[in-house]
Amino acid sequence: MCGIVGYTGAGHAAHILLDGLERLEYRGYDSAGICVSDGEKSHMLKALRVKGRLQALRDATDNGDSVDGESGIGHTRWATHGEPTVENAHPHLSGGGKVAVVHNGIIENYADLRKTLEGRGYVFQSETDTETIAHLLDYYDKGDPIDAIVRTVMHLRGSFALGILFADRPGEVYGIRRDSPLIAATSESGNFIASDVPAILEWTRNVTYLDNMEIVCLKKDGISFYNMDGEKIEKEFTTVSWDIAAAEKGGYAHFMLKEIHEQPKAMADTIHPHVRDGRIVLDELGMTDEEIRAVRRIQMVACGSAWHVCMTAKYVMEQLAGIPVDVDLASEFRYRNPVLEEGTLLMVVSQSGETADSLAALRYGKAQGMLSLAIVNVVGSSIAREADRVFYTAAGPEIAVATTKAYSTQLAACDMLAIHFASVKGKLSEEEYHTLVDALLKLPEQISEILRGEARMQWLAGKYANTRDAFFIGRGLDYASVLEGALKLKEISYIHAEAYAAGELKHGTISLIEKGSMVLAVATQSELLEKEVSNIVEVHARGATLLALTFEGNYNMEDQADFTIYIPKTEDVLYPSLVVIPLQLLAYYVSLSRGIDVDKPRNLAKSVTVE
Ligand code: G6P
Repeated sequence: MCGIVGYTGAGHAAHILLDGLERLEYRGYDSAGICVSDGEKSHMLKALRVKGRLQALRDATDNGDSVDGESGIGHTRWATHGEPTVENAHPHLSGGGKVAVVHNGIIENYADLRKTLEGRGYVFQSETDTETIAHLLDYYDKGDPIDAIVRTVMHLRGSFALGILFADRPGEVYGIRRDSPLIAATSESGNFIASDVPAILEWTRNVTYLDNMEIVCLKKDGISFYNMDGEKIEKEFTTVSWDIAAAEKGGYAHFMLKEIHEQPKAMADTIHPHVRDGRIVLDELGMTDEEIRAVRRIQMVACGSAWHVCMTAKYVMEQLAGIPVDVDLASEFRYRNPVLEEGTLLMVVSQSGETADSLAALRYGKAQGMLSLAIVNVVGSSIAREADRVFYTAAGPEIAVATTKAYSTQLAACDMLAIHFASVKGKLSEEEYHTLVDALLKLPEQISEILRGEARMQWLAGKYANTRDAFFIGRGLDYASVLEGALKLKEISYIHAEAYAAGELKHGTISLIEKGSMVLAVATQSELLEKEVSNIVEVHARGATLLALTFEGNYNMEDQADFTIYIPKTEDVLYPSLVVIPLQLLAYYVSLSRGIDVDKPRNLAKSVTVE
């Protein structure tokens, strides 16, 4: 949801800003811009903005060569206020070009601020909420930038991460955040601010995460931090473990394909550190057995694919640990006045740790006195910092908008929690426990095995790439899996896809099935196989083309299906981790056949930091 970057140092700022923005494009890509200060030469700020992808900005600036200067800010946008036009693209400058601003977030009271500023004679060039910030900074700038920033942000309602340049302070870049992410980083060749770690990995891994309402000032030879009283504060820097290779395509055609193939490693990296001598050890979580025994109910909240993870976890946790689980979309949770009984554990699942709705749900639950546990991929993200307990997935940076490896590792985290909770609550025999842990440890290799059959999925995708409607059906845990399968297909191929509990189809949606409709049925749950076959027969009889996904050995499926995809056998509760792999490959190759920009599908952004 918009990426921002700022740099000052000995390098050519435009080059560094463009490279940094390229790694943030997953956050939004409908317009882009940079603003560079040319130092002591003229005390002028030079801004360049384009509609469309970052490449358009590269073309407009001769890959940055045509823009001189050693400090600047940049932005890649996912439009909220105002269409994606050049006028609405960031950076926004105050009237006289004294201040330039890039912004990630939403200013909720921008209409009132705009009126006040117009009353003071400011003329607006865009429809954005951000332009009010540029004018406010200009209004309050009396020579002390920290003071101007403090006075400005006191008037802002909503969320923001800002990068700011003042024309009369060449070589300096300022930043501040509230509820939108911002990191600062330092290297020998200069200093940085950015929305996310991948933007700076090419130059440094030495970063610090800004807390809400902390101000950062970058100078060529150092970084300083201030609180809202204008006092200097100290921040600790940490070395991030991700390296630059993790944020590059490494020979793959797309990040999505690379990330699909990284799943065996991401799963192993997430599972192995928590299994010692055949037992799941979750010490790092800091959740005691006593706390686990006191959990009477679990409330899970998340958005998008992470919500599908929660849908899966509900089945697994209830089945293994016997703990009732409620699942809510984060955007719905706090507005429905949920009844939260004592002993309810709040679980938030988020790759980025910055999704606005999930963060708000976490804060709501905490304010109601709930103990919170977050499953997060990004270390230092807001959700990770605010939750009482954190389980970090080890997916590494995920760049493609359509999530794959983050989803898989979230599933693994939930499986481990369910097995561990079940064991602490005395719900599993030693034998059942070891069977599950052994099966869990085998998942990475089984995923590799499925990936070795990729060519078959590519062939299948080519065959069905022109399908108009696709229906994904499954029962029990397979229903949770098809939710993700249908989303993967629709978000990157633009094919209308719906997921249904197989038994529910006949209560309405079956009227949409006609000759040529594609139905993909997932059938892995041993107790439900017969019932699902009946549902499959029902759609097949109505002319649908039927693709079945089941485990090796269940060859009966071939009597019903036009095409059958097999995955290796595992324990029933662990099938979602294997089922999702062919579904990801199918979506990827259908998208490719249809000529879509797989990594950056239209209208989407990876990190959604607005409600
Ligand atoms: C966006 C992404 C989805 C993701 C969802 C939640 O919509 O496109 O892939 O599942 O946000 O993101 P989170 O970072 O909280 O997991």
